[in-house]
Amino acid sequence: MTSYGDEAFSLFLRKAFIKAAGYSDDALDRPIVGIVDTASDYNPCHGNAAALVEAARRGVMLSGALPMVFPTISIHESFAHPTSMVLRNLMAIDTEEMVRAQPMDAVVVIGGCDKTLPAQIMGAVSAGLPTVVVPVGPMVVGHHKGEMLGACTDCRRLWAGHRAGAIDETEIELVNGRLAPSVGTCMVMGTASTMAIVTEILGLALPFAASIPAPHAERVRSAEASGRIAAAIAVAGAPVPAALVTPAALRNAMVALQAIGGSTNGIIHLAAIAGRAGHALDLVEFDRIGRDVPVLVDLKPSGEHYMEHFHHAGGVPRLLGELVDFLDLSVPVVEGGTLAGRVMKTAEMHEQQIIRPIDRPLKSQGAIAVLYGNLCPRGAVIKHSAASPALMRHTGRAVVFETVADMAQRIDDPDLDVTADDVLVLRNAGPRGAPGMPEAGYIPIPKKLAAQGVKDMVRISDARMSGTAFGTIVLHVSPESAVGGPLALVRDGDPVNLDVEMRRLELLVDDAELAQRAAATRPTVERPARGYARLYHDHVLQADQGCDFDFLVARPASSSPEDAEGSASAIDI
Ligand code: FES
Repeated sequence: MTSYGDEAFSLFLRKAFIKAAGYSDDALDRPIVGIVDTASDYNPCHGNAAALVEAARRGVMLSGALPMVFPTISIHESFAHPTSMVLRNLMAIDTEEMVRAQPMDAVVVIGGCDKTLPAQIMGAVSAGLPTVVVPVGPMVVGHHKGEMLGACTDCRRLWAGHRAGAIDETEIELVNGRLAPSVGTCMVMGTASTMAIVTEILGLALPFAASIPAPHAERVRSAEASGRIAAAIAVAGAPVPAALVTPAALRNAMVALQAIGGSTNGIIHLAAIAGRAGHALDLVEFDRIGRDVPVLVDLKPSGEHYMEHFHHAGGVPRLLGELVDFLDLSVPVVEGGTLAGRVMKTAEMHEQQIIRPIDRPLKSQGAIAVLYGNLCPRGAVIKHSAASPALMRHTGRAVVFETVADMAQRIDDPDLDVTADDVLVLRNAGPRGAPGMPEAGYIPIPKKLAAQGVKDMVRISDARMSGTAFGTIVLHVSPESAVGGPLALVRDGDPVNLDVEMRRLELLVDDAELAQRAAATRPTVERPARGYARLYHDHVLQADQGCDFDFLVARPASSSPEDAEGSASAIDI
């Protein structure tokens, strides 16, 4: 607490100020639950935040505690320059520091748009106060010409149709107003839905909190219930988030990521959350899980449906019921008890098509594979559940774009030397290079090929991709080119081999030639002159470590600051 030297005087002073807001001594003597408000005119996904804050406040008061609402920054995916990923760590710092700075016994964090839940959970784990997470919930679906539409898998599909000349100017404008028909987060299995489900499976949010549509009354009741739980854990002083984010719980989350056809961004965020709790996310284990755990959830972009359908099918509790053989159900959850208590019973399961039974999966393997090879010594990922089967094993000539700007400038050039069999390579789009790994990994099909009907090509980058996108797209190549990763060495015309079954990504150029190129290559990224951009540049970790800042990752208690510095520079290549 803020101190003025004399403890009793400090309390006297703090009380004097808070009484300016009209609080009684009885109110101030109650357990205090902070409620994080992330409403912002720039964040339409959080358009229901005010109602959820009010409901959580009600839940806290009905339980005899005192709610105190306070703001943190809010990040919307489309209104955060240069990328929302750059700002995720800033929001995590804001959340952690404001939870720690102000008097409270527990906290409710309300978020949802892509980077916000990861940021809030990272901050909450580090702050170490009992926490309940309330996702804002997914949008309901849109409709157009008898077809259901969802942000933003259908945005890409329909825009691609417009680029190819199949949808005219008037219709694409009409579609534009129907893709996001309500407040809430993108209702496909994008990053927001993925992270909401991961949050629920980690036990940080209440059952069904991931999937109740944002505009539904049930969502408001869930926020009220979360307020009640927050009041209870404020009194108990437990569980703190790190007690829930255990290795076993993280493994459960990896199982879920594979089974839901989750966003590739999810693996970065999960690595960052794990790091805050002092654990390393094992990408090899994640890949191994993907060989055993099939995709069960039939949502776009891997499947056909949307989050409201997932909810009506039974949501996460039903998914848990299908995945029991792969999960550790003994992990604790925020309301007390274990994950086992949240599993939907067979008798409660009705007939539906969205959450497939384990013996009738949507895809026989999990959604995401982790690749290694001389192009990605520390790994790369591909969401093969949303890729073209014909391209799972492919060798093609590299067509290299130096930067995102270079790609934007040349991709549609009629003179670009490119065929459908080539491999599009984008570099300098990683955590430090771009910065913040823009979602540019979804390299568009060159216009002249799209007009010929080419729908997919192998694409490789150190960037990210929206969880709502699809295609044979290799992402998160680590280490990134801007810090000297091998992606920097690829030249136009080099043969590149992708073999998803073997989990390999290779540049078919001999080692001596690559060594020569490496000796002649210098990282080109400029160090920003000042401010948060400079902090980010100097401290961001690579994708396989979650792109957190090196100084925010939890260290073993015995580490001295010098040890921490040494290990940070050792892992941050
Ligand atoms: Fe907010 Fe998609 S833009 S979740």
